[in-house]
Amino acid sequence: MSRFPAYRPRRLRRSETLRRLVRETRVTVEQLVQPLFVVPGSGVEKPVGSMPGIAQLSVDRAAEECRRLADLGLPAVLLFGIPEQKDARASGATDPDGIIPRALGAIREAAPGLLLMTDVCLCEYTDHGHCGIVRDGDVDNDPTLELLAAEALAHARAGADLVAPSDMMDGRVGAIRRALDAAGFAQLPIMSYAAKFASAFYGPFREAAESAPQFGDRRSYQLDPPNAEEALREVALDIEEGADIVMVKPALPYLDIVRRVKERFGYPVAAYHVSGEYAMVKAAAARGWIDEGRVVAESLTAIRRAGADVVITYFAKDVARGLGRA
Ligand code: PBG
Repeated sequence: MSRFPAYRPRRLRRSETLRRLVRETRVTVEQLVQPLFVVPGSGVEKPVGSMPGIAQLSVDRAAEECRRLADLGLPAVLLFGIPEQKDARASGATDPDGIIPRALGAIREAAPGLLLMTDVCLCEYTDHGHCGIVRDGDVDNDPTLELLAAEALAHARAGADLVAPSDMMDGRVGAIRRALDAAGFAQLPIMSYAAKFASAFYGPFREAAESAPQFGDRRSYQLDPPNAEEALREVALDIEEGADIVMVKPALPYLDIVRRVKERFGYPVAAYHVSGEYAMVKAAAARGWIDEGRVVAESLTAIRRAGADVVITYFAKDVARGLGRA
């Protein structure tokens, strides 16, 4: 049964104006979140080798950068902190004067309207690089929850607008929600890294955040990449425990999960277009093998089309400056 020649799909593809008119998915700057890596010191701007265009920034530089991001119309940043000292108990993570609390103060002053999201995890703060307290060679779930809750609370007290737990411990969203509520932060949203897979695409990030595990890997806490049903159970748990936005990570290799999470739960969904996805595009573009702007536009559109409401991407600033605009 064909409606041809009455229906000719090509009719609406014949000019950019027509194509724009009937376009089903749009990527707007208001939906993009720029991750930032904050390091101790001042005047520091240290490029991350595997992420061209991305640098570790000291608090003063991060504040200046955030003013530029806000001026470009970006709504939000996601902050990762690298402390002065790392230890087995991740002391820097819960320090009220730690790197993230200091960054929050300075950025708030420089860019008052910007939404300040903070990554809540211990891997940047532990000397072994794991996302929790290690006992007998594995991350010990329940004692880690207390530290994560204390870290989230330190961020809340320093002015975070949203906390984003990325550790993948069981029960952490509930532990953080209870701690926030008890301290008067019932209105502070949680964006949980709900379906976070044990992915090889995080490689460059671990250079940027200085958080590579010193032994083993993260497979005892992050999701096994082949498992979609389990990912949906993880998302269900986080929603029951109080997550307001649920994230899928990485993005492009997991668009099936993004779609299923959106359809099953109808919650705001975030997708994290991660460091390895960024690095691949940059590397191929630098060799002239792909058109960076078009690849970025197509990638972000695909992430949105799959059902993501919020896209966390290292390309956010470039897109806000016009990269990929047709
Ligand atoms: C911390 C964390 C990671 C990322 C975000 N939060 C790394 C990891 O789990 O090893 C990865 C982000 C990226 O690759 O861009 N747990």
